[in-house]
Amino acid sequence: MSKKILIISGSPKKDGNTALLIKWFIEGAREKNAVVEIVNAAYLKYKHPGCISCRQCQKNVEYGCVIDDDAGPVLIKMISADVIVMASPLYFFGASSQIKILVDRMFSLYKWDNAAGTMQTPLKGKTLVFLGSAFEDIGLDALEKPFALTAEYTGMPFESLLVAHAGTSGEIVKLPEAQDRAKTLGRKVA
Ligand SMILES: Cc1cc2nc3c(=O)[nH]c(=O)nc-3n(C[C@H](O)[C@H](O)[C@H](O)COP(=O)(O)O)c2cc1C
Repeated sequence: MSKKILIISGSPKKDGNTALLIKWFIEGAREKNAVVEIVNAAYLKYKHPGCISCRQCQKNVEYGCVIDDDAGPVLIKMISADVIVMASPLYFFGASSQIKILVDRMFSLYKWDNAAGTMQTPLKGKTLVFLGSAFEDIGLDALEKPFALTAEYTGMPFESLLVAHAGTSGEIVKLPEAQDRAKTLGRKVA
């Protein structure tokens, strides 16, 4: 059966390093007949600039955010994907704010029962992949960490590809090993 892969880009650059990593990853994944969809978080329209911690999602039976904006359909797509790919450039030793907003809205894909000390989520068992790049070689570990911890917490197998010295947007083409590694990872998780 073909795997469904949902890719979420956190880069505003449509032809930048993140876009190229995604392109190469998809080339590998398509060799294994994966069905791929890309969402660019930088171009979603939100009613609020982040999760507003209303906690309404915790009162509903179904999963999903109660705020009616562009995040809602993406969250639902996450539930039906086999593999979720998050891709972000390093912005000041962390992920881009564009992807962080969407990640925080994923609060609505978990149900916590604090009294019982339990957590349930339909994300459990899906693979989480992180693709990151940076101009320098400092801070990629900090960029990866929140995604690795989220995967561990959620019960998602985790894979990542971190590319240092990627240059400015688009210059990652000068690193052929980045292309090879992205394609290999696409093939591996598909
Ligand atoms: C707002 C901003 C902050 C950045 N912060 C860092 C940083 O802290 N360290 C670093 O090595 N590169 C930094 N960069 C460079 C990008 O991480 C790097 O060029 C990345 O590969 C760009 O990916 P993109 O083309 O998809 O935007 C920054 C770039 C921008 C625009």
